Amino acid sequence: MTFISIADAIKKGHGEVKIRGWVYRERKSNKMAFIVVRDSSNIIQCVIDRDKVAENVWKDADKILIESSVEIEGEIHEDKRAPTGYEVKVKNMKVVHFADVFPINKDQSTEFLLDKRHLWIRSRKLTSVMKIRSTVFGAIDEFYRARGFYEFAPPVLTPAACEGGSTLFEVKYFDDTAYLTQSWQLYAEAAIFSLEKIYCNSPCFRAEKSKTSRHLAEFYMSEMEIAWGHLDDVIKYGEELVEFIVKKVIEQNTDDLKILGRDIQKLEKIKAPFHRMTYTEALEYLKKKGMHAPWGKDLRTNEEDELTKDLDKPLIVTHYPKEIMAFYKPADPKDPKVALNFDMLAPESYGEIIGGSERSTDIEDMISGLKKQGDNPENYDWYFDSRRYGSVPHSGYGLGVERVVSWLCGLDNIKDAIPFPRTMLRKNP
Ligand code: 4AD
Ligand code: MG
Repeated sequence: MTFISIADAIKKGHGEVKIRGWVYRERKSNKMAFIVVRDSSNIIQCVIDRDKVAENVWKDADKILIESSVEIEGEIHEDKRAPTGYEVKVKNMKVVHFADVFPINKDQSTEFLLDKRHLWIRSRKLTSVMKIRSTVFGAIDEFYRARGFYEFAPPVLTPAACEGGSTLFEVKYFDDTAYLTQSWQLYAEAAIFSLEKIYCNSPCFRAEKSKTSRHLAEFYMSEMEIAWGHLDDVIKYGEELVEFIVKKVIEQNTDDLKILGRDIQKLEKIKAPFHRMTYTEALEYLKKKGMHAPWGKDLRTNEEDELTKDLDKPLIVTHYPKEIMAFYKPADPKDPKVALNFDMLAPESYGEIIGGSERSTDIEDMISGLKKQGDNPENYDWYFDSRRYGSVPHSGYGLGVERVVSWLCGLDNIKDAIPFPRTMLRKNP
């Protein structure tokens, strides 16, 4: 008999099965041992009756500790009292490895669990989050490829900033200095001249000095860029992408969402088109709610939260003040005080999940923007070539994968949306 997954054993429902995995829980009396085994697919209770197994099996069961690895042969049957509704009556058990006393038990501090992250990723919570994360990446690939996009690989080591120098990570580069990428964007803008519609899922790095529940120093950004596209075109792609990701997660991860205690009905409402307002309208809305935010400053976390806390769908805020935007965001010709850009804010106060814009084609304007943000325009001369040889209108955006995972899973902190989080205060394990 070959091994099958616990999920397949449960599907089978009766008869002989052979499974393998790790001891998730164990409890013993002097006649019976109850061992809950987990594998990547599910958990199942296995019962060992002292009178029905060989002596060595009982001895092993008696000393086995959680997280030991085991192979089990037995008879599966329905049992409503068991944690997943089925139980295996064990005929034989082989202990592949007797685990030491597992350092993680109930009620441990968040910091301890982060120190033991290499073990804590075995938890049901993080297993479900990682499965949802995998669905999100799969959905992104499927979405763009079905729409004729090419996957394009940007460099990770870069000579200059894309999103301003203050969050750059410096790396020793032979006898020189390089920086870890903050965004693929400048390279994407060079690549649309041959591929036109491109996307990537790539790690991005920002030395964020803030210790918020939304910022990581290393995170994954899913970015897209299209030639000929204007602001409305990329907003539409962003809405459809998010709708598609949510649909795939509901289809493929119902059990995981249940394990995480996520209200699936809320996610079922995520259908494009989403809510939409301009930055100026957002400030008016906030004023009505008693929050006075001055025109010309970026929206702060608490303001974004106020805008989205009661929403059933994401909110798209457009046309932020040009003055405070990155150098590549163009002014709106109809109102040069504002930029042709947008942020997508997740509902339930999960913050900004997408940032995007049209791209300026005016080299002089970009040079003055770079100077204003303290960067040296000379480092960007190669980038301006894309405006010198067949310049076209183009637009794109970046979606923060961990922000989306955090929202879909209903997590309290973005650190649980990535297996090994890196923040200002943590790079271990
Ligand atoms: O809004 P951002 O900074 O946009 C850009 O970098 C553009 N160059 C993207 C583009 O147009 N191609 O970042 C995009 C998204 C944010 O909306 C947010 O979801 C996520 O990336 N993000 C972070 N996620 C986790 N930790 C951080 N420190 C993040 N910084 C940005
Ligand atoms: Mg942004």
